[in-house]
Amino acid sequence: MQLSVNGSLVEVASPPDTPLLWVVRDELKLKGSKYGCGMGLCGACTMHMNGTPIRACITPVSAAEGMKITTIEGLGSKDEPHPLQSAWLKHSVPQCGYCQSGQLMSAAALLAQHPQPSDSQIDNAMSGNICRCGTYPNIRKAIHTAAT
Ligand code: FES
Repeated sequence: MQLSVNGSLVEVASPPDTPLLWVVRDELKLKGSKYGCGMGLCGACTMHMNGTPIRACITPVSAAEGMKITTIEGLGSKDEPHPLQSAWLKHSVPQCGYCQSGQLMSAAALLAQHPQPSDSQIDNAMSGNICRCGTYPNIRKAIHTAAT
């Protein structure tokens, strides 16, 4: 099966019902997307499918065929970070860091849809991304910073 991941076409050999998260992590060796709950509840595995945030732990790889997948590795680069990545650094958002790639992918999808989101739009968009360190206030600040 052929996938489009971060702008590149790649061949993958995993069975079609394999969760996309494991294909991305184990076959493609892109380790930024994390495994948290495996049940679509925590958001650690969030990536984009045609710009929409999805839970890759419960999305079969077959659903990704013909779609554009973007992972945290494709959001920005060291030389050209996404505005959210710069804002994340500015506000020292991550603590343990484990959930942060999923947080960033949800935030990026929000800003693509609402370039100047309100607090309630932020809370609504980010409500499915759980952070055990409780970085929510800094996440909200960083999203506002990236939006300006
Ligand atoms: Fe996918 Fe928790 S690991 S939502």
